[in-house]
Amino acid sequence: MATGILFPEGFLWGAATSAYQIEGSPLADGAGPSIWHRFSRSPGKVANGDTGDVACDHYRRWADDVALMAALGLGAYRLSVAWGRVMPEGRGPVNPKGLAFYERLVDRLLSCGIVPMVTLYHWDLPAALDDRGGWLNRDSAGWFADYAVAVFRTLADRVRLWVTINEPWVVAVGGYLQGDYAPGHRSIAETPLVANNLLRAHASAVEGYRAWGRHQIGIAVNLEPQHALSDSPADTAAAQRRDAFVNRWFLDPLLLGRYPPELTAAFGDAWPRFPEEDLKRIHGKPDFLGVNYYSRALVREDLAAVPLRASSARLGQRAQTAMGWEVYPRGLREILLWIKGRYGNPPVYVTENGAAFDDPIPVRGEVQDPLRVDYLRRHLMAAASARREGVDLRGYFAWSLLDNFEWAHGYAKRFGLVHVDFPTQRRRPKASARYYADVIRSRGSTLAAEADQETDLA
Ligand code: FCB
Repeated sequence: MATGILFPEGFLWGAATSAYQIEGSPLADGAGPSIWHRFSRSPGKVANGDTGDVACDHYRRWADDVALMAALGLGAYRLSVAWGRVMPEGRGPVNPKGLAFYERLVDRLLSCGIVPMVTLYHWDLPAALDDRGGWLNRDSAGWFADYAVAVFRTLADRVRLWVTINEPWVVAVGGYLQGDYAPGHRSIAETPLVANNLLRAHASAVEGYRAWGRHQIGIAVNLEPQHALSDSPADTAAAQRRDAFVNRWFLDPLLLGRYPPELTAAFGDAWPRFPEEDLKRIHGKPDFLGVNYYSRALVREDLAAVPLRASSARLGQRAQTAMGWEVYPRGLREILLWIKGRYGNPPVYVTENGAAFDDPIPVRGEVQDPLRVDYLRRHLMAAASARREGVDLRGYFAWSLLDNFEWAHGYAKRFGLVHVDFPTQRRRPKASARYYADVIRSRGSTLAAEADQETDLA
């Protein structure tokens, strides 16, 4: 196994967050409420009745948070812009105070030598747009593009890396099929419509960007290898269907210009006849793909699971995170190689990767999180291994910089490299943050030294 520096100069070492999960002050300076503002107020939707009203209070503590990033030696930071701060009604007049917040943040990052990667949509649709049908409305593509252009006008000269939409699959499936995420619908017929509109919105924002920006714009998708639970033909076919559902639903239309046939078959009559020009517009070349990787799925045939007739199972004896997700580092390598093979080796960033664990309470100010250190180390090894196989991987963003509002789980699940004591808002870098800082400083050579004893990714 190779030793020495595993990642080239210029490789981006970052951490990621999103607006609703960390900012708090959701209505400050004239911002309009989002669907998560509403959803978290609906009884029973979020664990413990938690909301993002305060979160990490980043809207007010942003300068300290940037100083913390600089102290850790981060080279990049992935943040998201809250649509409702920029356009309180989701469309129409721009709120200059909302945009100014992101301008200050971006300028401070740049002055610290930290490259900002800006996501335009990380799930916080303005509530006023939901009242007009939200992502079900075909006009949503135009609303999104207008908002995106308002942000580009202000920031495109300084921000070189843009992500249109974070995890469109989760927006469509979590929000409109399973209903665990805002806006909480459960409708098989709505889901493909929403997915198609998200792709149209992405494409319209990219078109808008080409007029304003000279740098790079992509999309961030959640990917997860789908492994059949047994060798049976039924489970193998189920894994194939789930692969179409989770991994190819958005990437095939974007990069190959077609929806996976398994999907249209699974949805049957619930699959709409989309206007032909939709796919023509969607099919385009993002400048890069963002990959959010957490785990793999083990799939079995399940005739009761509509519409896919497939469900993912758990194997009890395997190491899991506090989310119940299997720790499976080699899946990152597998999915990166799959992208390279299937889609012609586009530039890729790992835009999220990380784990929630039940961290011990701080002792003398220190949080020891050896499980997260191990998770990071092994996933970075997998990323290095994919690079060695020729994947055009340009950066890695740990999820997350801070413990934060983990959607339906509220504050109960902690993904941060930095511990947040929510009552006092005190931040304390965990052992994993210090470990990551060492990896960054050495461009991975500390990993390489450890990897000499490593066999599982050889
Ligand atoms: C991803 C989301 C991110 C965070 C992590 C744990 O699906 O993009 O906001 O919740 O999962």
